[in-house]
Amino acid sequence: MSEISWRGHRHLLTMNQFSRKDIEDIHHFSHILKPYSREGNKLSILKGSILQSVLFEHSTRTLKRHESAMKIMGGDCLSPHLSITSSMEKGESETDTVITYAQNADILAIRHPSPNSVYLFAERINELKNNTTRIINCGNGPDEHPTQALLDYHTIMEELGTLDDLIWLIVGDLEYGRPVHSHMIGTQKFSNNKIIGFPVGGLSLQKERRTSGYEEFDLDYLYKIPSEIPPDSNVVLYATRIQFERIARKRYPDYDNFDEARKRQIRDEIYREFQYQITLPLLDALPEKTRLLHPLPRGSEISDEVFFSNNPKVAPIEQIRYGVQTTMAYIALFSGKEDKLRKVETLWFKICYNSNRLLDEIFPN
Ligand code: NCD
Repeated sequence: MSEISWRGHRHLLTMNQFSRKDIEDIHHFSHILKPYSREGNKLSILKGSILQSVLFEHSTRTLKRHESAMKIMGGDCLSPHLSITSSMEKGESETDTVITYAQNADILAIRHPSPNSVYLFAERINELKNNTTRIINCGNGPDEHPTQALLDYHTIMEELGTLDDLIWLIVGDLEYGRPVHSHMIGTQKFSNNKIIGFPVGGLSLQKERRTSGYEEFDLDYLYKIPSEIPPDSNVVLYATRIQFERIARKRYPDYDNFDEARKRQIRDEIYREFQYQITLPLLDALPEKTRLLHPLPRGSEISDEVFFSNNPKVAPIEQIRYGVQTTMAYIALFSGKEDKLRKVETLWFKICYNSNRLLDEIFPN
């Protein structure tokens, strides 16, 4: 049976597996897939492919962008598996569940609270005979969220046009926020990125995740830093949710057995304790080429006023849409369909070329 892989990797597990060129190519394919993420323009690249979402933690955006991407490209999805678990260790029955799905689907989009989970599942799947199922890591506990990082890079490329020479201001939960951890790896593939962390309430980035040049300051300084940033800089203001459920499990070992009302009470207490907010005056003070990103869901860190404003610096809603294109791109690549994407690319170049010719005819020099 032929091995399906992309650039030597069967599964999409960590930002470590990608080179700068890989990330740029994923962005490029995401970009050319944009017209197809609209109504009426569908593809058949993944006809016959089946995706199974396997969620041991909740998910809305990640689940929906995978389903949407599959459907736009002519593939199918089995109904998602949702079984919330607090286990920091992967139980044997979970492996059996994953193996069962691997024998029924071509792609597994997995989210699990344990950092080791996706690696162990991948090992087991690799041992299966006559099986080419790929795993997409959609969040392995507090460790990583590589597909969120990829869609963030696509968003930044579309909005700011570069992944080099950026000033990243990362705010919120740096200890447990897994997209942040993937960015600590991903941003290093590009040059001259300055990463400044603003942890809330001591939720600092672990020493072993810090890269050279990384600096961390108290939150107060975030509101003062704009005056120190050159006005022509490209800035990514990356806000993150406080991962209340991970903090709660640490504080209350029995948290998962609490009733819903008690869980909500604990969530609200933790949100109050670690509260922060991105304000419009802060955004106004930052350079013109600033984009506020947030992996979502948001707590009170972005108010409705900011979230729904038409301010071009506020990008989380666009980010959701860019996520669909990015998901289409990496699913197609990890399904061995780069040649099909190249055909879409040719068509895209033809359309651009012809529309330029048309423009030349309408507006001759
Ligand atoms: C993030 C996640 O689950 O890691 N959200 C997402 O995938 N869009 C961030 C979060 O949980 O806060």
